[in-house]
Amino acid sequence: DKGNHRHFMQKEIFEQPIVVAQTLRSYLQRLEGQIVLPIPEFDLSGIKRVTIVACGTSFYAGMVAKYWFEQFARVPVDIDVASEFRYRAPVMEPGGLMIVISQSGETADTLAALRHAKAEGQTIAAVVNVPTSSMAREADLLLPTHAGPEIGVASTKAFSCQLAVLAALAANLAKAKGRLSVEDERALVRHLGEAPAAINGALAYDEAIEAMAPLIASARDVLYLGRGTDYPLALEGALKLKEISYIHAEGYAAGEMKHGPIALIDDAVPVIVIAPSGPLFEKTVSNMQEVQARGGKVVLISDYDGIEAAGEGCLATITMPKVHPLIAPIVYAVPVQLLAYHVAVAKGTDVDQPRNLAKSVTVE
Ligand code: F6R
Repeated sequence: DKGNHRHFMQKEIFEQPIVVAQTLRSYLQRLEGQIVLPIPEFDLSGIKRVTIVACGTSFYAGMVAKYWFEQFARVPVDIDVASEFRYRAPVMEPGGLMIVISQSGETADTLAALRHAKAEGQTIAAVVNVPTSSMAREADLLLPTHAGPEIGVASTKAFSCQLAVLAALAANLAKAKGRLSVEDERALVRHLGEAPAAINGALAYDEAIEAMAPLIASARDVLYLGRGTDYPLALEGALKLKEISYIHAEGYAAGEMKHGPIALIDDAVPVIVIAPSGPLFEKTVSNMQEVQARGGKVVLISDYDGIEAAGEGCLATITMPKVHPLIAPIVYAVPVQLLAYHVAVAKGTDVDQPRNLAKSVTVE
């Protein structure tokens, strides 16, 4: 049932404050200021290396998590798409941890990678949304997302819930490694706990995004740029746009523009720049200005401070609530999803059932 929404995708985008809160409830003890995983029997302190494998949007959640695991826990992370991982003779540390991420828990390539790594002696943790799925059953450790059934083919609420679980896991790994003080843990719990309200704040920009959608709907190509954890978000934004609006889109690390893709820039190519204010902001803005200097039309997604500092000369701006960097990817996922959604609606495509795509990909 779509309720009063036009599409399941729209309904699922708007469910995110509730389902992220629902998911966080089983990972955070807010009163105690503690992060607790639903796998109490497993000791994370011995983990020396993590391998993350997934496909599509779930893979981009994994890319964000790599930044977190390395930054907070100082544990090296190897990450790959499942269809490549299996066929490249990956080196797995004995006793290592492999994390598979999947909404459906049935994606054939991810499941095959899980089985391969299990046979190689890895401990498998599964971040999955369907608790009865093959991955949930075959994994050693289950880290569920509680997004509820996702009907729209384009994944939205599963992604934000995956990020919430992975942030909790990264913080817990940091704690197990003695890298998170009691105060720091309490602060992280507070920041994560603020995510649902911040997502609500992001959703308030829905109408403004709808109003700018026609500017993008007429484009043939669109670029998305971001740095740090906003780089995987740029990739996710491009994937969302291409799969439901059929507009060609690419995501790039903002600093890579000058190594080739900037040649594509002219006034017919909208460039979506994802840049919350923070340590990476200045660098991303200078990449954005390189684009503008070549006539590129920029849509800047930032917070109030960021828009104040760099919004002038943009085709459009999208103002997000000011949030802690840990939850920024969860919050900034929302305008990226809404933009793809409204552009697709403006183009009149079948948003919930895009051509050539299936919700669960059970062939390799
Ligand atoms: C994109 C999308 C796909 C899936 C991918 C993995 O919107 O939905 O890219 O993310 O097929 O599916 P799961 O997460 O079920 O393994």
